[in-house]
Amino acid sequence: MSKRRTLVAGNWKMNGNRADSTALVNGLKQGIASVNNADLAVCPPFILIPLAAELLKGSAIAVGGQNLNVNKSGAFTGEISGPMLKDAGCRYVIVGHSERRALYGESDDVVAQKFKAAQDAGLIPILCVGELLEEREANKTEAVVARQLDAVLKLAGIGALANAVIAYEPVWAIGTGKTATPEQAQAVHKFIREKLVKADKAVAEGVRILYGGSMKASNAKELLAQPDIDGGLIGGASLQVEEFLNIGRAA
Ligand code: 13P
Repeated sequence: MSKRRTLVAGNWKMNGNRADSTALVNGLKQGIASVNNADLAVCPPFILIPLAAELLKGSAIAVGGQNLNVNKSGAFTGEISGPMLKDAGCRYVIVGHSERRALYGESDDVVAQKFKAAQDAGLIPILCVGELLEEREANKTEAVVARQLDAVLKLAGIGALANAVIAYEPVWAIGTGKTATPEQAQAVHKFIREKLVKADKAVAEGVRILYGGSMKASNAKELLAQPDIDGGLIGGASLQVEEFLNIGRAA
């Protein structure tokens, strides 16, 4: 089958204020016309989502959250729910980012619950998976990624992947400038797709698997040319208008 349409999503992490986010979003809006072969999305911090959603209303650039609570509402001080993100104009939400897993103790089970909560709210989860450096060095990459995926498959079922995005983000490549080589990334993307093929071929062939980890304009083309790499989840390079647009243009 033909390759899936590329998705380039920017994970702003905990960066930005109203002024620089306005400039960034307006710059993307102006440049999107020259991005022909990719969908673009931005995932600002919660408090900047309404601003981004308002500025992007009617444009082809989607908005996403970076996290959500598993509950819909209630006494969960400081938390944000899926229905709230949906109401604020989000299409996507990142779940299971390695920073959430490592710094906020999110287990595979919690990530699976967040994945399900996202879909229950009508959001498209961008499910992050990926191994630590020591896991890669111990040849455990496939086992780790399989375990992370299995938690979601067990709770939500393979059919749920028809309305989701996967992001393979090797932890050692995040924010380090050490991108996985296209071959290293492709090998894991292929592993993920083949694992899903065993459960449902059509779902596996349709699901977009993004690469994340020091992806930037200068390495995007080679990565996006790989048969099982369907886009990027971009951290640092998503904070600069031209850099982010050029990743989209590389598709
Ligand atoms: P960097 O692109 O800054 O390495 O971050 C990747 C990432 O974590 C995206 O979610």
